[in-house]
Amino acid sequence: MESCPLSGRKPFFRSPAPKGDGLIPEDLIKYHHLMPDDPIVDVILQNLEVTGLTPEQLKGKPDAQVRDMVLGEYFAKLSGHLGQFASRLIMRGEWGYGPCDWFDHRHHLLDPQTQFNDFWAMSADNVVEVLPMGGTVLELCAGDAFYDYMFYRHRASKIVCVDINPEPYYLYKRLHQAPNIEYHLGDVMAFDAGENQFDVAIIRGAIEHFTEEGQQKIFRKALKSLKVGGWFCGDTPANHDQDHKMLDEHEFEWKDEVEMRRELVKTFDHVETRTLVSKDRTTLFWRCKKIKP
Ligand SMILES: C[S@@+](CC[C@H](N)C(=O)[O-])C[C@H]1O[C@@H](n2cnc3c(N)ncnc32)[C@H](O)[C@@H]1O
Repeated sequence: MESCPLSGRKPFFRSPAPKGDGLIPEDLIKYHHLMPDDPIVDVILQNLEVTGLTPEQLKGKPDAQVRDMVLGEYFAKLSGHLGQFASRLIMRGEWGYGPCDWFDHRHHLLDPQTQFNDFWAMSADNVVEVLPMGGTVLELCAGDAFYDYMFYRHRASKIVCVDINPEPYYLYKRLHQAPNIEYHLGDVMAFDAGENQFDVAIIRGAIEHFTEEGQQKIFRKALKSLKVGGWFCGDTPANHDQDHKMLDEHEFEWKDEVEMRRELVKTFDHVETRTLVSKDRTTLFWRCKKIKP
């Protein structure tokens, strides 16, 4: 029997599936030569413990419901296992062979045990709270456009993304395209975002990639692009240790909320800021409103 090319282990079963003798339930999760009508389905149904469900939970339920619940839990567990495995390989492919300055946000979902956190969800809240239904969005340094695809496209009529790096752009092309998202591959500094066009302009996890002068240029570009009443939103990790950069690609990392505010008020009249202290990092969030033409 052929071995799995990744783990080197032999598949636990092939059709016809083993009858259950010597079955180690946890091993069922490790292999996925499985179709809904495969005989192994019966083996899973007879080995409830693999799903974590208990006989008490299923007692009195019709067979069809039990089958849905057991197989659903089985596939959820299998997908969790494969997701974690996929994430680790993809992560190594992205970060393990050279410098990388963008993050593939699928990792939060593929490997929640290690990649789910509080600050990435708050990044979305920071925008969603001020994005009107049917509104327009400009996302500067959009990366893989994960947030645009997962959150903003359900509210916005139009989203314009810009990023200079082809790697996250390829990911966007492959997985995050939508009819209301357009993506420009190029330098934000050279990008003409127009005037009075957008309800929300965003730069998330990217302002630190620019010098102080570059940041002010971006702020002025965002302000110009906004309608009156529109919001400029973003976040950045705080660097309390100003002697060491968090990433070589960073140009100007803000130390704390005070420094963030000091930079933003140079361009914006109405500035709201907050700080989120998490386990491994501190994130600085801002929202600035355009209050006059
Ligand atoms: C850490 S990533 C953040 C991407 C995205 N906003 C996110 O939340 O995942 C920083 C992004 O800034 C982009 N970037 C840096 N300098 C840029 C420039 N001059 N023009 C456009 N994009 C730039 C990088 O290509 C990268 O995708």
